[in-house]
Amino acid sequence: MYVQPDAPQRKPVTVPRLRGMKAAGERIVALTCYDASFAAHLEAAGVDVALVGDSLGMVVQGRASTLPVTLDEMVYHTAMVARGLAAVLPVADLPFMSYRDPEVALASSARLMGEGGAAMVKLEGGEAWVCEVIAALTVHDVPVCAHLGLTPQSVHKLGGYRMQGRNADAAAQLRAQAHAVAQAGAELLVLESVPHALAAQITKEIAIPTIGIGAGKDCDGQVLVLYDMLGITPGRRPKFSKDFLAGRDSIAAAIRAYADDVRAGAFPAAENILG
Ligand code: KIV
Repeated sequence: MYVQPDAPQRKPVTVPRLRGMKAAGERIVALTCYDASFAAHLEAAGVDVALVGDSLGMVVQGRASTLPVTLDEMVYHTAMVARGLAAVLPVADLPFMSYRDPEVALASSARLMGEGGAAMVKLEGGEAWVCEVIAALTVHDVPVCAHLGLTPQSVHKLGGYRMQGRNADAAAQLRAQAHAVAQAGAELLVLESVPHALAAQITKEIAIPTIGIGAGKDCDGQVLVLYDMLGITPGRRPKFSKDFLAGRDSIAAAIRAYADDVRAGAFPAAENILG
């Protein structure tokens, strides 16, 4: 039976607290989450950020990409997750085409925050038009998490799910975009599938926290797809992920082990680092 969480047992993680964690060198523990029961596990394990990722299109809905996920679906899942949380910060993905210009982005974010209960929205890309959208959201007090590197909503343009920023030009462009999204007002930056050294350099250079996934151990925090780190996702697990349930007897223990390993700098280990 699902039981609604009581008052938080610890100080709630807030948007300003994320920068404080970076300044204090406290690693940020993030996981994706798609429903209230798993949200309660994240809460109990002391995770900092619950990301309602549009990866739900693939791991929950069985779709081939995140592109078909709708704003209604994101609002539905965000509301379920937010109901299961007390101290964990809920962040929700703006799905494909739901932030194509500032006006649409504001309307979409109003739904994710107002109906869904998100405290921050995430969008992909670092081009000039994305920075304009970030600035417009920021002006209206919508906290934004940017997402650079492998941006799954651009899978067709990228030609597949592969590491980004590998050559000097691509790395320079990614670095410039990281500075641009921070300058535009983003509060958090997900770096997905980029070389370890590049993620480390960006993390050092920008004031906002970076959260890595397949980006090495020197980001300010880590995020994994929940179903991957519990070994639920069918097929091959990405090398940068790890099955934390293997050898443990409960989901609670697996999520606690992940949180402990991220905080201790033990995850990602050498075998989970791509390049
Ligand atoms: O949708 C998602 O789950 C994400 C994470 C992989 C960062 O964007």
